[in-house]
Amino acid sequence: MSAPTHPLADLDAQALRDHVADALARGRARSTSLTDAVDDADLVRQHSVLMSPLVWDLAHIGNQEELWLVRDVGGRTPVRADIDHLYDAFRHPRGARPELPLLNPAEARAYVAEVRDKVLDVLERTPLTGRRLVEHGFAFGMIVQHEQQHDETMLATHQLRAGDAVLTAPAPPAAAAAPIPGEVLVPGGPFTMGTSTEPWALDNERPAHRVELPAYVIDAAPVTNGQFAEFIAAGGYGDRRWWSDEGWRHRTEAGLQAPAHWQRDGAGNGSGNGWWRRRFGVLEPVPGAEPVVHVCFHEAQAYSRWAGKRLPTEAEWEKAGRFDPATGASRRYPWGDEDPTAEHANLGQRHLQPAPVGAYPRGASPLGVHQLIGDVWEWTATGWHPYPGFVAFPYEEYSQVFFGGDYRVLRGGSFGTDPAAVRATFRNWDHPIRRQIFAGFRCARDATLAEVAQGRVN
Ligand code: AVJ
Ligand code: FE
Repeated sequence: MSAPTHPLADLDAQALRDHVADALARGRARSTSLTDAVDDADLVRQHSVLMSPLVWDLAHIGNQEELWLVRDVGGRTPVRADIDHLYDAFRHPRGARPELPLLNPAEARAYVAEVRDKVLDVLERTPLTGRRLVEHGFAFGMIVQHEQQHDETMLATHQLRAGDAVLTAPAPPAAAAAPIPGEVLVPGGPFTMGTSTEPWALDNERPAHRVELPAYVIDAAPVTNGQFAEFIAAGGYGDRRWWSDEGWRHRTEAGLQAPAHWQRDGAGNGSGNGWWRRRFGVLEPVPGAEPVVHVCFHEAQAYSRWAGKRLPTEAEWEKAGRFDPATGASRRYPWGDEDPTAEHANLGQRHLQPAPVGAYPRGASPLGVHQLIGDVWEWTATGWHPYPGFVAFPYEEYSQVFFGGDYRVLRGGSFGTDPAAVRATFRNWDHPIRRQIFAGFRCARDATLAEVAQGRVN
């Protein structure tokens, strides 16, 4: 099994600096557009108790950048050591952040700009080699990913915000003419999970290790709105059989009846499935062919049981997404080792919704599994745990303190995830009741003996 090649490994020092500077600039352009889209009152408002005010995310992005790149990598004097505690995510839960004496919008903008000026100077003067923290620009890459993660969080805040639409984007591509299969058989055997070579992989993705799985079957695409509407129409939300004890309790307490942001088509017209949804301030018929989004883990699990299936484990998701049976190697992405383009996946907030199933034939994995990267984060059956040989780096508060908690792993990124912040090894996690994130799912099941013998699904 050979290690995948990665683009950063071959860059000379100046090309690597340029790559880092571009990635930093792209993240900042996105943070700026997400915060410039609303007025100051909206920036300091709490749009949901689940979310921080947007102005908190903005200054927190600057504060993490200051801590890691100005102070730690650069060894420079602090810009604003006095505000560290305000932007420490462990000190104040999201719901308490509006009451803090936060920087106001103008101060937050000036702060992140001042930090960025210093960071670009640090980038020019620091050798990106010798220290593990900066090897291949790692600490800069970590901060690029951190900003993009908060940009996705800010996008989720926009989705929760009441009022007229302020964000726009073109519609995603339509499905290709060739239909895709319903399910794919993944042969039993070992594969390489995780990575020891991806330069900007975070600690929780490491190290690469061999995992042996029996043959299984996985959906070739995420579950669509149309399929999920059938589950609702079949009484799935009210049928105790499909829910775990914990899921049923939550469904009952929270009054779950449909994905978040869905409402009934009162007039009995419009969409074929009778549902409408509110999406970034626009009310529209629910498009049947798009992956369902804004469901919690429990809803995903209930659907999978109703369908006679289950959720894939994290390892099953990753093998379906990376394993190349022709070489036995694991790829960086389903389509190969090249970084994502608009042809491969619906990423980077290029569109403000998932694309219909079948829209990215060039993004399929060697086994023929589609849309693993982009569109919607995918819930897996697996809890949040370290890989064998895990070492926290560079700080325990990113991954380690959450291991073993009440979390499920999500994989693959959404339409709101930047290409810099996702890959086939990337691991996300959240509480099983959360629905504000851009999460959907696909199903899996054990392979039958007949399927194993035939080497394909029936
Ligand atoms: C990996 C998405 C769960 O947003 O809570 C941001 C990422 N960590 N700042 C989160 C993160 C610190 C994290 N998730
Ligand atoms: Fe953060």
